[in-house]
Amino acid sequence: MMMIFDSGTGMPLAVMDGEVITAMRTGAVSGLATSLLAKKDASIAAVIGTGHQGETQLEAVCTVRAIRKIYVFDLQTGRARAFAAKMQEKLHIEVVVAESAAALLNADVICTSTSSNSPVFDDVHVKSGAHINGVGSYKPDMAEIPSQTIARAKVVVDQLQGCLAEAGDLIQPIQRGIITKDHIHGELGELVTGKISSRENDDEITVFKSVGLAVQDLITADLVLKIAQEKNLGTSLSL
Ligand SMILES: NC(=O)c1ccc[n+]([C@@H]2O[C@H](COP(=O)([O-])OP(=O)(O)OC[C@H]3O[C@@H](n4cnc5c(N)ncnc54)[C@H](O)[C@@H]3O)[C@@H](O)[C@H]2O)c1
Repeated sequence: MMMIFDSGTGMPLAVMDGEVITAMRTGAVSGLATSLLAKKDASIAAVIGTGHQGETQLEAVCTVRAIRKIYVFDLQTGRARAFAAKMQEKLHIEVVVAESAAALLNADVICTSTSSNSPVFDDVHVKSGAHINGVGSYKPDMAEIPSQTIARAKVVVDQLQGCLAEAGDLIQPIQRGIITKDHIHGELGELVTGKISSRENDDEITVFKSVGLAVQDLITADLVLKIAQEKNLGTSLSL
């Protein structure tokens, strides 16, 4: 649940469903990263982890690239099937339930949105030129992306301080001496402002790792509140 306050007066303005807001903003941030880092002609996407986050990851990727086929994989096959049917209807794009994470071999954009403690695919399954959005792994002992993939990729993060404190995907290869902190290319904001470079060629692997920032929730909630006020949506309460 999110409670929104007027920063000037401290008055409560709205109460919102936090899960929906967080899923929207996490998807939007990966969409921005995909638009700046993925190959322009990316046409095949894969999602590993078919929960709430997987849904908005996929919507965002399909917003910024002309995706024509999607592979989905989840340890819970029933969940992956329901997700595939829902997303195919929503996006009007073919969605295939993969037998294993090896289906990634075809993917230009890979989204990992699991609660896993160990990598959810093998480095050998990553196609040359692929872009990966990793949104799980928000604790040091969690991981989704193999250290070898991190080591050979251009890695951009949502926020350096947050990722170095929370993202097992980066903390673990640093602790094992596979990479140093300097391997992290920079933050998404720096990519947006042109302070750091984007993809340099069609063979490069790029990774966007996020752990989520409160400011992303705040901006999204503000947008939702404005639209709700304009359209007279929601329920008014007097306190
Ligand atoms: N980066 C961010 O800003 C951000 C924001 C919100 C949530 N998250 C994180 O994103 C992750 C997904 O969130 P959610 O709400 O969709 O979770 P969820 O529990 O609804 O879905 C996760 C799915 O991952 C699957 N899974 C777990 N391990 C797997 C594996 N090894 N291979 C394939 N599938 C596997 C599970 O079966 C489940 O269906 C969580 O770790 C959550 O904390 C990140």
